[in-house]
Amino acid sequence: MTNIQNIYDNPDFFAGYSALRNNEQGFNAVLEQPTMRSLLPALKDLTILDIGCGFGDFCRYARSEDAANVVGIDVSERMLAVAKEKTQAANIEYQCIPIEKFIPAQTFDIIVSSVTFHYVEDYVALCKKLFSWLKPNGTLVFSVEHPICTAYSSGVHVTQTDIWPIKNYRDEEKILQTWFVEGVIKYHRTLQTYLNTLLEVGFTLQAVLEPMPTDAQIEQQSRFAIHKIRPPLLVVKVIKGKG
Ligand SMILES: C[S@@+](CC[C@H](N)C(=O)[O-])C[C@H]1O[C@@H](n2cnc3c(N)ncnc32)[C@H](O)[C@@H]1O
Repeated sequence: MTNIQNIYDNPDFFAGYSALRNNEQGFNAVLEQPTMRSLLPALKDLTILDIGCGFGDFCRYARSEDAANVVGIDVSERMLAVAKEKTQAANIEYQCIPIEKFIPAQTFDIIVSSVTFHYVEDYVALCKKLFSWLKPNGTLVFSVEHPICTAYSSGVHVTQTDIWPIKNYRDEEKILQTWFVEGVIKYHRTLQTYLNTLLEVGFTLQAVLEPMPTDAQIEQQSRFAIHKIRPPLLVVKVIKGKG
């Protein structure tokens, strides 16, 4: 039986994470989302699934781009409560369910997932499901914490800002981080596992990006400096088809 942690419903974690995300010039807004969106086709009239949709930002963006309908799923009730409060658009359906238990009622043109798959223990099972949930020629675009980051299991606490330690990159394992609270569970996987598993279940690789801030962005926000010594994110685009 696979393990599923719902850390975003922990009140202390939720408070810390909400404060972090309450910043329009933050990491997600400046680096992650522009990269994800740059890989997507026009969303007009498409059916979309957002896995780990959080506050629903991408779901609302997709509707603003005239997507036909959007399903956003997340394991966290607290995250979805905010998503629902912020959402007026029709044709966005939120479901509180972990990805491991989700059974979609339809297939999708596009599946997106931002910084969520490193919380999922069984990546092979996940990739098989993603393949089956897409329509022919459908697109999957996702971001995860970069394997260079998850290889350092104590994560974000680095005292020097010009180096990044890597430990046991080879060992694909559960890692425990302190991020707002102790005991945040993530799963480290190598780059080859992230990519080759997608190929093995039948996807065709279209793009791999490692977004990092420009010098101008670092000048504006010095806390971004760490993101040029190693990439914070791995962003992947695959399609169900030959491309
Ligand atoms: C870093 S947040 C990202 C939220 C959103 N995608 C964004 O980029 O703004 C990760 C989200 O994944 C959700 N999550 C974690 N594990 C999950 C699982 N097994 N199934 C569904 N959602 C999960 C969390 O509750 C959280 O909302």
